[in-house]
Amino acid sequence: MPRPLPSAVAALILGLSGAALAQTQPGAPPPQASTPEQQVDALNGVFGQHPGARAVHAKGIVLEGRFTPAAAAASVSNAPHLQQEAVPVVVRFSDFTGIPDIPDNDPLANPRGLAIKFRLPDGSDADIVAHSFNGFPSPTADDFRDLLIALGRSGPDAPKPTPLDAYLAGHPAAKAFLTAPKPAPLSYGTLPYYGVNTFRFTNAAGQVTHGRYQFLPVAGSHYLTDDEAAKAGPDYLAGEIRRRVGVGPVAFRLVLQVAEPGDKLDDPSIAWPDSRRIVELGTISIAKVAADSDAAQRELLFLPSAVPDGIEPEDPMIDARSAAYPVSYSRRQGQ
Ligand code: HEM
Repeated sequence: MPRPLPSAVAALILGLSGAALAQTQPGAPPPQASTPEQQVDALNGVFGQHPGARAVHAKGIVLEGRFTPAAAAASVSNAPHLQQEAVPVVVRFSDFTGIPDIPDNDPLANPRGLAIKFRLPDGSDADIVAHSFNGFPSPTADDFRDLLIALGRSGPDAPKPTPLDAYLAGHPAAKAFLTAPKPAPLSYGTLPYYGVNTFRFTNAAGQVTHGRYQFLPVAGSHYLTDDEAAKAGPDYLAGEIRRRVGVGPVAFRLVLQVAEPGDKLDDPSIAWPDSRRIVELGTISIAKVAADSDAAQRELLFLPSAVPDGIEPEDPMIDARSAAYPVSYSRRQGQ
């Protein structure tokens, strides 16, 4: 397994990559279609492979609560949890990177993750896996793998311009993602999270709506100043959310951002304008930390394509993700 190169990622995100950006080679071959194993290999190549840990979003905490659908939810989908009855949910908040002990105040720990399982009445699950940035560095899974490989080959000793410099010169969305300011959050409960990939929703009358999930914190969005972040402890987010749910539920509005004609449905690197119609899907109310959060997160496998009737993946990246996550799961179970 290649050595992890978090310093390359750090240098980039902190804006310290001073090399002149190269132009992409006009005659370069098109990217190869990649397997789920290659996707996970590429993540391991950047962050290392750590026993028992997810290939990415390795550090996290599991909580439990309920989801209550809003009246408008059934207008877009006949999925069981979007009708009238509240259902139990399991939520995992996480830091970015595959480094399981990354300090919460490390800039690399952004974006944060929110993964949720709706426990449906028939015993199945509906999952959403979102992060705290409205966008993604890459339009497709293959493109994402190319970015990871470039990152993995651009360590401190790599000659300039590095493979990453070359990659970013031809991929402005990736550059924008990696260099966007991402301040440390006050709390896992005070960040918006974005589903980023597009799903197709069908209601009881057969009408179709294309949309992207957003989780909007009821307590508002709150961030630390750089000084506050520097003084925060390495595990401040787990302590903070434990205290916060001890005082009262941590709530998010789950909403759907609805596509307009012309919006790209298969490119999560392009955020849709904020002016798009928003449909209220319901409220997530998180009540407590799981009794054994570490055991729970080892067991949990969130799958972006785990959806009931009434919801279907539209963006092909959703199925590509759902093929890669079980590979990481098997590796972290030692299989
Ligand atoms: C082709 C693109 C992607 C690939 C190959 C990929 C790969 C992975 C892998 C291998 C895992 C670890 C799964 C596990 O061990 O259970 C993971 C977890 C995760 N990913 Fe992705 N991912 C992709 C896109 C995204 C996007 C677009 C988002 C945000 C919208 C995202 C957010 C997350 C989060 C939050 C987790 C942690 C889930 C949990 O708590 O279990 N990923 N990803």
